Amino acid sequence: MVEEKRIQVIGQELWSSLQQKPSASEPGWIDKLFDQLMTDSRFRLQALRFVDAVPALSDDAELVRHFNEYFGDIELEALPRLMSWAIRRGANLTHPALVAPAIRQGVKTVAHRFIAGESVDAVLKLARKLGGEGISVSLDRLGEATVSETEAETYQRAYLTLIERAAAAERAVEDLNLSVKVSSLFSQISPLDQDGSVRALKARLRPILLAAMSARIGVTLDMEQYDYKGIILRLFREIAVEEAFRHWSGLGVAIQAYLRDTDDDLAALSDWVAQRGAPVMIRLVRGAYWDQETVSARLQGWPVPVWTEKSDTDACYERGLQRLFENPLFRPAVATHNLRSIACALALAEAHGRDADGYEFQMLHGMADALAPLVTGRERRLRLYLPFGELLPGIAYLVRRLLENSSDQSILPAISHLDLEQVMAPPSPPAAGMESHPEGFANLPLHRFTDEAERAAFAAALERVNGHLGERYPLHLRRHLAVEERIIDSTNPARPSEIVGVVVRAGPDDAELALRQAQAAFASWSGLGLTERAAFLERTAELLTARRDLFAAWEVKEAGKSWSEADGDVAEAVDFLRYYAQQARALQVRPSPSLPGEANRHEYHPLGIGVILPPWNFPLAIPVGMLSAAIVSGNCAILKPASETPLVAWHFCELLRVAGLPDGVVCCLPGSGAEIGEALVRDPRTHFVAFTGSREVGLHLHRLITGQPTGQHHVKRLIAEMGGKNAIIVDSDADLDDVVAGVIESAFGYQGQKCSACSRVICVGAVHDRFVARLIEAARSLRIGDPADAGNRMGPVISASARQRILEAIESASLTATPAYVGEPPQSSEGHFIAPVIFTDVDEDSPLAQEEIFGPVLAILRAADFEDALRIANGTAYALTGGVYSRSPAHLERASEAFQVGNLYLNRKTTRALVQRQPFGGFKLSGMGFKAGGPDYLLQFLHARCVTENTLRRGFAPDSEA
Ligand code: FDA
Repeated sequence: MVEEKRIQVIGQELWSSLQQKPSASEPGWIDKLFDQLMTDSRFRLQALRFVDAVPALSDDAELVRHFNEYFGDIELEALPRLMSWAIRRGANLTHPALVAPAIRQGVKTVAHRFIAGESVDAVLKLARKLGGEGISVSLDRLGEATVSETEAETYQRAYLTLIERAAAAERAVEDLNLSVKVSSLFSQISPLDQDGSVRALKARLRPILLAAMSARIGVTLDMEQYDYKGIILRLFREIAVEEAFRHWSGLGVAIQAYLRDTDDDLAALSDWVAQRGAPVMIRLVRGAYWDQETVSARLQGWPVPVWTEKSDTDACYERGLQRLFENPLFRPAVATHNLRSIACALALAEAHGRDADGYEFQMLHGMADALAPLVTGRERRLRLYLPFGELLPGIAYLVRRLLENSSDQSILPAISHLDLEQVMAPPSPPAAGMESHPEGFANLPLHRFTDEAERAAFAAALERVNGHLGERYPLHLRRHLAVEERIIDSTNPARPSEIVGVVVRAGPDDAELALRQAQAAFASWSGLGLTERAAFLERTAELLTARRDLFAAWEVKEAGKSWSEADGDVAEAVDFLRYYAQQARALQVRPSPSLPGEANRHEYHPLGIGVILPPWNFPLAIPVGMLSAAIVSGNCAILKPASETPLVAWHFCELLRVAGLPDGVVCCLPGSGAEIGEALVRDPRTHFVAFTGSREVGLHLHRLITGQPTGQHHVKRLIAEMGGKNAIIVDSDADLDDVVAGVIESAFGYQGQKCSACSRVICVGAVHDRFVARLIEAARSLRIGDPADAGNRMGPVISASARQRILEAIESASLTATPAYVGEPPQSSEGHFIAPVIFTDVDEDSPLAQEEIFGPVLAILRAADFEDALRIANGTAYALTGGVYSRSPAHLERASEAFQVGNLYLNRKTTRALVQRQPFGGFKLSGMGFKAGGPDYLLQFLHARCVTENTLRRGFAPDSEA
């Protein structure tokens, strides 16, 4: 390790040079702006959000409306002179056309501080100018997120054109380097599909590398979000040893010191480069997505992959430098604006005898003004990172830079307030503490498929299931003499000839037996305390968690779910078990007011015997949710699983048995709805029905339970979750990168077969055409096929009859609307596949816009303005889920008040509600009853009693607290 003393000496020298630089005479409005960004957290939030929205606001009035919405109640200290003059006079309210150009210019001025130019010519010109000053560059072409393969190809061409233009320029740029964001080269990049992602990326990257190599231009792969790290590193390692590139030293990759994995990654790269034998450039950065990585990991319940203490990142950076300098096959690119890191690198270079050509410093355009001379002044190599492109595609980059430049953890913006000792203090990470977990319920985290072990475990579970295909499953009925010829062949919708399992089908005699057993079990089960029943649910949750991959694998096979969808369903089932256990305990301690002389007790009692009728689309979560709520409340229940997915239900009932559930409390009766489902619903011995499914069946059940058969001395309850015709409103200012990804996920995730799925998109104003064009290309890029292959984003619909019904709906919709995109299902497969279909010019009253199709069919409608969009969205018989993508705070607020749905999602997809965080359920014809996964749900399975005792005896009352 290099001596700390030497780092301090060099740091002192750098510091002195920095202090000698004359300070700018008068701080301009941009300097004041950065000051306010650093000191005023509300302004920072609003400013970052406003800047993000500006490129989408081409209309003056809209721009000024947003400006007022974001800053209406904030004291603005830093504005260009013309703008503050206009605002003082209220022109922002009365004359938007006067103020808008000044706002736009202001944002552009800020953007130009970090974005080096809008065109290739402009950035090459700047690169040549810098070359004259002895500074090299790395060019970064800014872009929107790549949502389709067409966009990915456009990016590839853009890189190739850039190389061509740079090579053909009259005056070449010396020592040119390109920074490539590989996620822009393949729209379907996914941690789940590492092999497919690396394969596709190699194919797109190879021509770029070949062209760059022959033009003597270096290429560095930027490091992006953690989800892609494994893919980028593997791509780098594999492509760098291909015959064409294995001796090329112009190839490099960025490594982020803020990641906890970095020490291991660098060690692995050291071994790898030794085998390759030719040098590579490693650009060591701290990392640009710290906030995003931290927030999204915490939202998902995943371990945070970045260090959470800045000094940990700093220490990791220094360990990284050490590794880079000690390995002669690494050409270190020290990418930082941190004075201590620069000093540390200089000291390491000395210690390892690296001359000035053996490494380089790198800095970002717009952040290097003060620091660049410190490096060039010592005759060390410096490369500036020059992002270029239009403001709109560059906005994500700009926001990252603003974030970094206003963060109290970044050195550069704070340097003028710090002294030498603070700047040069060696990083001293605090002792690692345990991450604290909040008390109480927490959702089971989904798999993070970036983890190789998690991918391997899932694949192994699929293999295990493959080894048990076609087996026979008896009924779970005590003393049952199964009539074995009654069976259901449960088949794989992706390969209908493959029998996943053979389940014995229950008939009316089994239903009778189940009812009698439930009656017999009721007294002792309902007599147990809520606490004991809650403990049973928790035990079951533990068993299910231990078998989560196996259950998910059965779902892939039986329900045609992708890996992530299946994992999500199982995790939700575990959540229901744990959450309802917790809720049951809470019910036990409901206080009742008691006064001296009067004692009150408020108690809950189970209803009796319930009929549970779940659908096939969430084959575990929904039955488990309804069933666990019923039994934790003390009821007995008869589950009639959907005919399409009896196996998953069978395995769960088997799990209940293993967990020790007494006989008769739950009985699973796979079979026909008409034959046994209806009979159970009508039977006077049943007390409630919990149903999730179609509106027709839900309403039919409602009619059935209102009858009063002889011998029934209670009013039956129905808890019904029915369909939706869910809409997403795309406001004129929406971020289309997010919208397209969100709509694809909401409309085509699990082939659109979710009651929460989006089936209408309502576009406000001019956003329609651009959105539709991008959406169609994104839909075209989705890979469809057997979901057992993790590379397939879409699988089959559930059955041949579902497929037929969807095809008929598409055919009749084609008569009234424009089929703007009709995808091609895989030709070679026998499965029930339907590719996405997108209709435009849809009449808001047409069946396509009003009736649930339950497949990957999306209707796009136009609205004149936001109010009109809300009117159209609310104009159906349903009220389940809805979404709004907008960057107008006023519109988001208005939607919260007026969008009539049970679950409203702002700026996110409309699917994947989480237990407790987003209790799920709608109203109007979407359902009746309290929300699943919410605090009121259990009450539906109970009736309440109040017991009041007069405790006054001959004028004497015990203490009211007793
Ligand atoms: P500084 O000391 O100011 O550190 C700030 C950084 O510390 C933050 O950016 C963050 O990484 C980290 N940090 C902040 N708070 C923290 C906390 N509480 N706990 C732990 N760590 C915390 N980035 C990237 O992700 N991929 C890339 O490919 C590139 N490429 C690139 C090329 C070039 C030439 C440069 C100069 C920079 C990059 N970057 C990058 C951006 C880079 O990640 C970013 O500029 C630096 O993180 C800024 O940190 P400094 O080293 O300048 O110092």
